Amino acid sequence: MIPMPPRWMIFTGAVAALALAIPPFVIARVRATPDPNRPVHIFFDMDFQPKFKTQAENPLFADGRAQRPEVQGVVAQGETRLDAHLYEGVSGGEWATTLPAGLTLNEQFLLRGQERYNIFCAVCHGYAGFGDGAVNKRAMELMSNADGPVQGTAWVQAKSLHDPLVREHSVGLLYNIVTNGIRNMAGYGAQIDLEDRWAIAAYVQALQLSQNATIQDVPPELRDKLPKNVAQGDGAAAGDGAAATQTTTASADTTEVK
Ligand code: HEC
Repeated sequence: MIPMPPRWMIFTGAVAALALAIPPFVIARVRATPDPNRPVHIFFDMDFQPKFKTQAENPLFADGRAQRPEVQGVVAQGETRLDAHLYEGVSGGEWATTLPAGLTLNEQFLLRGQERYNIFCAVCHGYAGFGDGAVNKRAMELMSNADGPVQGTAWVQAKSLHDPLVREHSVGLLYNIVTNGIRNMAGYGAQIDLEDRWAIAAYVQALQLSQNATIQDVPPELRDKLPKNVAQGDGAAAGDGAAATQTTTASADTTEVK
């Protein structure tokens, strides 16, 4: 029979065996924890690749930038944009008066335009287009503060879309204004999709008609259904009552609400 080793030996052996289990446990734990700055790389995977990141430096070029400017005259695939009507709102050298081929003016198109207008334009121009959106109101308030404009606030009043000059804009010009902006108004080409910009332009014209329509624009069979005050107005009819009462700005004088 093998004699039992002394107790201290068994004890030391047990502690050593337990201690040996610690390193594998630590390694497994570290491997399983994500950390972008792990100092020890056991498995390289594809963590190190010879490449330049955006905005990085590259001494090879005189300007020291790794990111190279676009080569002049190069057109990216799918960005030829030769259709001036579709992309610029220009047809035959003039602002287009029709929608580009492929887009159809129907209720769905106008509803889409309305939805996009309410999201992107109403904050300044107001839901009915009188230039009385919430942002505009607030800015005008800050401007007319009793102690003068807050921190030198400057604000150009958002135009009423029922302004006589704006009413004359063709759909192509409206599209171009939405895309590239005009004077103090920024363009929305980067935020709003191409077709949606046309839908908004079409909806702006619908809004304009809503405030300047005559009884002759209403189909005879529907005239009876108009509210009395609108139907009896001699020619000028307001779109919907709610829209008309939103008028609070100087632009009110351009509406012929009777
Ligand atoms: C941040 C506020 C703001 C937003 C949002 C905004 N606009 Fe304007 N818009 C203005 C201002 C301000 C002007 C007047 C610019 C000037 O006269 O310098 C203007 C002018 C216009 C005009 C008149 C251009 C002319 O010929 O006088 C049209 C049309 C127009 N905006 C349409 C739109 C449409 C459509 C949208 C939504 C895509 C939109 N705007 C979004 C502030 C805004």
